[in-house]
Amino acid sequence: MRTVAGLLGVELPIIQAPMAGAQGSALAIAVSEAGGLGSLPAAMLGVEALRAEVAAIRRATRRPFNVNFFCHTAPPFDAGRDAAWRGVLAPYYDELGVDRGTVPAGPARAPFSAEFAAVVEELRPPVVSFHFGLPDADLLERVRSTGATILSTATTVEEARWLEARGVDAIIAQGAEAGGHRGMFLTEDVTTQIGTLALLPQVIDAVRVPVIATGGIADARAVAAAFLLGAAGVQAGTAYLLCPEATTSRVFRTALQSEAARHTALTNVITGRPARGIMNRIMRELGPLREGLPPFPLAGAAVAPLRAAAEARGSGDFSPLWSGQNASRCRAVSAAEVTRELTSGIPPA
Ligand SMILES: Cc1cc2nc3c(=O)[nH]c(=O)nc-3n(C[C@H](O)[C@H](O)[C@H](O)COP(=O)(O)O)c2cc1C
Repeated sequence: MRTVAGLLGVELPIIQAPMAGAQGSALAIAVSEAGGLGSLPAAMLGVEALRAEVAAIRRATRRPFNVNFFCHTAPPFDAGRDAAWRGVLAPYYDELGVDRGTVPAGPARAPFSAEFAAVVEELRPPVVSFHFGLPDADLLERVRSTGATILSTATTVEEARWLEARGVDAIIAQGAEAGGHRGMFLTEDVTTQIGTLALLPQVIDAVRVPVIATGGIADARAVAAAFLLGAAGVQAGTAYLLCPEATTSRVFRTALQSEAARHTALTNVITGRPARGIMNRIMRELGPLREGLPPFPLAGAAVAPLRAAAEARGSGDFSPLWSGQNASRCRAVSAAEVTRELTSGIPPA
């Protein structure tokens, strides 16, 4: 069986999915030390924080790790759309006592840029993964010339072919079960998003590079199924959310351990872009999918103070509770233990 373990320089063909907002270096270190590939999400980090996190990883482990970037196009600010969205949220600001004067405008997530490319050249992470396509050719070339193994996510066959044509080393096929943002970048139509069981074999048949399965993989049986379908590796996110090494918030942990975790949906009302999370009040009352929002990530700025006010009261009503359809299988055990469980599903060579 050909796996991505060799390509990634790790013992196990298991990748801990980068999860911006829910983890930092500690989870990445634990998974890399357990023999998988730990990932550090950079989407919500500034350059200095990224340097510090990578230094922390290198102090704790000599094993390979992945640094992950978003590469969406930063949208122009549209005052009309922004005001309309704040108008929709106004009753909630009143209810939670949020002072409208303090609601910030502007993005909370930065796309890959020349500044980030310079940091990659400086830090030389062994693996770099992208979400929402790839950066412009010149920036991608700068990453490639550091010698990094390059991964990106496809949610359709067309996206997989597009990524292969631009020279990625392996493709992460993200089924619709996946927690967090859809990596979709050639379409905005959520009806094109299909489940891992259907997507994985189609992508494998369409490209020559190795394909890593992600979305809904939270135990050994799902890992075994992915390899049976021809995956060269698996990437699991939600399965690691309750680990002590993750930074998952208290309200998020409570939701994951409740019956609520059985009901997830794709929503765009929290950031402006479709993402899967546990159904909560904002998704139920304003979405889960809605037209006319400020584009990603701008919609999130107006929601952020509601989230903060609700979380201060112990409520996840306005929080991004990003998790996959298998969220109810998530266990509060160490990252090494989750990695062991996933490993036991890998078929013998
Ligand atoms: C809380 C959370 C945050 C996420 N953040 C990112 C991210 O920053 N970058 C990224 O490439 N993928 C992100 N994802 C998506 C994962 O890479 C992956 O597609 C997903 O976790 C797989 O589905 P699963 O959660 O069912 O394992 C996130 C997923 C979750 C659950």
